[in-house]
Amino acid sequence: MSDDGLSRRQYLTTVGGSAVALSVAGCMGDGGSGGGQTITAGTAPGFPPFEMKEGGELVGFDIDLLEAVVGQSDYELSGWEEFEFDSLIPALTNDNIDVIAAGMTINEKRDETIDFTDPYYSSDQAIVVRSDGDFSPSELADLADRPIGAQSGTTGEGVVQDELVGDEISESQYNSYGNYVLAIEDLQNGNIDAVVIDVPVARTFAANRPVEVAFVYETGEQFGFGVRTDADELTSSLNDGLATVRENGTYEDLTAEWFGE
Ligand code: ARG
Repeated sequence: MSDDGLSRRQYLTTVGGSAVALSVAGCMGDGGSGGGQTITAGTAPGFPPFEMKEGGELVGFDIDLLEAVVGQSDYELSGWEEFEFDSLIPALTNDNIDVIAAGMTINEKRDETIDFTDPYYSSDQAIVVRSDGDFSPSELADLADRPIGAQSGTTGEGVVQDELVGDEISESQYNSYGNYVLAIEDLQNGNIDAVVIDVPVARTFAANRPVEVAFVYETGEQFGFGVRTDADELTSSLNDGLATVRENGTYEDLTAEWFGE
């Protein structure tokens, strides 16, 4: 679809604003087998191409992938709810949602509170700057005394807090945002000089806005779907579904569609 790219670009240049929990009409197909349990998914849009709003509609790789995976199971997806990223784990543990699909990195800290499915995507962190070329850092030390941004509760924020704050930059030079669209807009506006963000998302912003990846900081992250610790049956169904979509070509089709890989 040729206008798909255009609408994605328009989204990337116009949408900001903080996420409000919003129920998206569930129209996920009727699952075929019937009798399955209904589950609700949660995500945090503003993270292209994993999840974003296009003309009011929630779209992206995570949306398509989770729907395909659940389509392989006896579960039925009733719909999607939107949150800011740092509210997703509380929403899951409070039973507001049953699964998180949000480009969420599997890590030990989160694993203390929730479980994850098998990994479905790999990432490192990118340091994104304006593409005017005035500031071209090539390592973290080059970010010294610069205002830096990341999304609240993310592993990108973790890199800033662990590797930069208190050393290269002061606490007040770190700027935390409710979503990465706002961080990238502040970078474009010159309010901050770099954003630390997952590589595939950085590349998507760089393809659509006057920003570029200055360098990659290797973190070796892997994304998984988040599930409650007591939901072993759902977790194993999702893992079986992931294996099936990898085998039957759906996973490859979706990466081609959303990442051009
Ligand atoms: N992978 C990073 C993390 O897990 C960033 C995820 C942000 N996701 C989003 N939908 N905004 O912390």
